[in-house]
Amino acid sequence: MNINLYDLLKCLSSAQDLVNKELTNHHHQVAYLSYRIAEHINLSYEEKRNIILAGLLHDIGALAMNESLAEIEDSSATAYNHAYVGSMLLSEFEPLKQAAELIKYHHHPWNAGTPAHNIPIGSHILHIADRICVLMRPEENILLQVPQLVEHIKEKRGTQFSPELVDCVEELQHLEYIWLDLMYNYPMNQLDYPWISSLAALNIDEIIDFSMIFSRIIDFRSSFTANHSAGVAKTAERLAQLFGYSEHECKMMLIAGYLHDLGKLAIDNSILEKPSGLTVKEYHIVKSHPFYTYRILNVIEGFDIISKWAAYHHEKPDGSGYPFHLDDSNLPLGSKIVAVADVFTAITENRPYRKGMSDEACISILRNLAAENALCSNVVFVLLDHFSEIRKICADAQIKAGIEYARFKDSLKHK
Ligand SMILES: [Fe+2]
Ligand SMILES: [Fe+2]
Ligand SMILES: [Fe+2]
Repeated sequence: MNINLYDLLKCLSSAQDLVNKELTNHHHQVAYLSYRIAEHINLSYEEKRNIILAGLLHDIGALAMNESLAEIEDSSATAYNHAYVGSMLLSEFEPLKQAAELIKYHHHPWNAGTPAHNIPIGSHILHIADRICVLMRPEENILLQVPQLVEHIKEKRGTQFSPELVDCVEELQHLEYIWLDLMYNYPMNQLDYPWISSLAALNIDEIIDFSMIFSRIIDFRSSFTANHSAGVAKTAERLAQLFGYSEHECKMMLIAGYLHDLGKLAIDNSILEKPSGLTVKEYHIVKSHPFYTYRILNVIEGFDIISKWAAYHHEKPDGSGYPFHLDDSNLPLGSKIVAVADVFTAITENRPYRKGMSDEACISILRNLAAENALCSNVVFVLLDHFSEIRKICADAQIKAGIEYARFKDSLKHK
C-alpha cells in the first residue's frame, strides 16, 4: 500500500473547508497561487514541493484551535498563534517537517523577517498568496479584481511583503489563466503534473503516523473528545488482531480508528461542547459526521477499505444505524469492529462533565447492545473475553494522547 502524500493532503484539505465554510477552497487556492509564484521565481523542485504541501495545510492550527479563518486572517494577534500551533502539530511528521517550518512564519511581515530571523522565502510566498486569496471576492469577476489586488499588495512592498515577491505578482497579473484557475477551477487539479505525484510516497507506517497526527487535529477541537480517536484506534487494532487479521490489515484498522470521526470537522464546536440537550437541528448536524468521513476518505486512492471501516461506525447490525442504513449482511466485519471500539471507548473515557463508566457498567451496556443487535455480538464477546487487557490498551493510548493535548494547550499560550 503506497499512498501519495500530495493526494492525501489534497483530500484532507477539503476536510478543512468543512470547518471554515466562509473561506471555501482557501487551502487549495493558497497552495496553487504559492506554487505559481514559486515557479515564476525559479525555486527548486524541493522548495516548490514544500510550498505546495504547506499551502494545503497552512491554517490547520486554526482548525485545531477552533478559530474562524475569516477572523484570524484579519488579526495579526492571533495569526501568529495559529501558525505556530499548526507548525508544532505537523512537525512531528517527518515528511512534513520542512513544510511545517514554512507554516510557522506564514503571517510574519517581510521586514520583521529576512534576514534577521532567517525566515524562509517559502513562508513569505505563503504570506503574500494567503493575503491575495483572502481579499478575493467570489461574487465579483476575478479579472476585474486583479488590478486592485495587485495595488493592495504593492502598498505593502518592502514592509509586509518581500519586494521581490510583490514584483513577481505584478508580472503574473496579465496571465489570466492563473487567476481564472484560482477562482473558478478546483485549483489543485491544475497542478497534476507527474513530478507532483511523485512527491512523496508514504508507506503504511507513515500513513499511520500521519493519521495519528491528523486525529489530534480532529479531537483537540474539544476537550470532550481530546483523546477519543487514540483510544478507538488502539482498541480496534487489538480486536482486529484477535479476529486473526493480517499485520497489514491491523495497521489499516489503526488508520480507520484514527480517522473515523474525521467528518466531525464539519460540526461546529459549540455543538461538540454540548454535553447534552441537542436541538433537533444540532442532532442532525452531529449525525452527518460519518457521512463526511466517508466522502472525504473514499476519494483517496487506496483508502477503499479503510474508508468503509472508518465511516460505517454508526451503522448497526439491525439496520437502524446511519447514514447508509447497512445491516449485518452488508456491513464489513472491520466496520463492526470500529463500531464496538467506538462505543467501548466513549463509555469508558472520562469527559469533563462525567467520569468514565466502571468496568461492570461498561460490560453490562455492551452486553445489552449486543443483545439488541445494535452492536455485533461476535465482536462484543471477543472484547469481553479480553476485557481487562483491552481496557488497559485503550486507557494507555488515551493517557498518551492526553499528554499531547496538554502540550497543545500549552502551545496556545505561545505568542
Ligand atoms: Fe493563516
Ligand atoms: Fe490562510
Ligand atoms: Fe462518530
